[in-house]
Amino acid sequence: MAGRLEDKTALILGAGSVGEGIGNGRAIAMLFAREGARLVGVDARQAAADETAGLVAKEGGEMLALEGDVTDEATLKRLVATAQARLGRIDILVNNVGGSIPGGPEEIEPEQWHAQFHHNLHYVYLSTRLVAPIMVAQRGGSIVNLSSVAGMRHLGNDLVAYAAAKAALVKFSQMVAVRYAPHGVRCNVVTPGLMNTPLVAARLAGQQAGGDVAAIVAKRNAKPPMGRMGEAIDVAYAALYLASHEAKYTTGAEIVVDGGLTLTVR
Ligand SMILES: NC(=O)c1ccc[n+]([C@@H]2O[C@H](COP(=O)([O-])OP(=O)(O)OC[C@H]3O[C@@H](n4cnc5c(N)ncnc54)[C@H](O)[C@@H]3O)[C@@H](O)[C@H]2O)c1
Repeated sequence: MAGRLEDKTALILGAGSVGEGIGNGRAIAMLFAREGARLVGVDARQAAADETAGLVAKEGGEMLALEGDVTDEATLKRLVATAQARLGRIDILVNNVGGSIPGGPEEIEPEQWHAQFHHNLHYVYLSTRLVAPIMVAQRGGSIVNLSSVAGMRHLGNDLVAYAAAKAALVKFSQMVAVRYAPHGVRCNVVTPGLMNTPLVAARLAGQQAGGDVAAIVAKRNAKPPMGRMGEAIDVAYAALYLASHEAKYTTGAEIVVDGGLTLTVR
């Protein structure tokens, strides 16, 4: 049976992982490769991208691993040009880079506010500006953006800048979907809930539990009705569907992958 992304190419921004193990971007790269896509993966840290490329190779796939800060316009231009040259076309763009810093409006300094918007929203605007015309010229493409349930509601921690940026990302994606629909270019969102990714130990334990990894894991497992966090592969399967031909009539949609979390009041 042919893979679900046979003959497709993908550019994945944020293809590494912040710590040991498999985060959303890395899982997306591995799954896309398993389904037949040829990849270019970008990460701020070359070592993180290289590690993903190694895992992709184990899946029988190929990923060119590039280093670069996607929030920098000139860098992003260079990365997109390299990806296009390498792949010949860009069928799929995954905007996976993102992350939160805690705080309300009084705790977050103006420069942190702007940095959060650059990290979670502004670069998506930049990458869309660069890649959408390529997809229009190809007469088709799929953009998959990673939001967060934090953009839907307050989940117990003040994340004012992150939540606002991720909510805006959903609206941005819908506007992009309408703008490019006549050209066969789709734009959709995957919204992860509380996922058990390397991020939990690498960053969230320090931010939310005084460095106590077991405590933050227990706290996050207790919240979703399913009684546990999700895994990066759950996010990757949603991204795979949206990227694939199976979703050819789906644009401006949001798939929430949260084990029912945002349907509850606890
Ligand atoms: N893990 C969760 O629980 C969770 C929940 C909701 C939403 N999300 C969203 O999922 C996405 C990421 O998930 P992940 O598990 O892959 O996270 P991750 O932090 O493990 O991976 C993101 C990768 O992006 C890279 N990166 C960071 N800044 C960059 C930059 N400026 N330029 C290029 N690369 C950069 C990092 O080095 C890292 O390897 C984010 O958009 C995040 O907001 C995650």
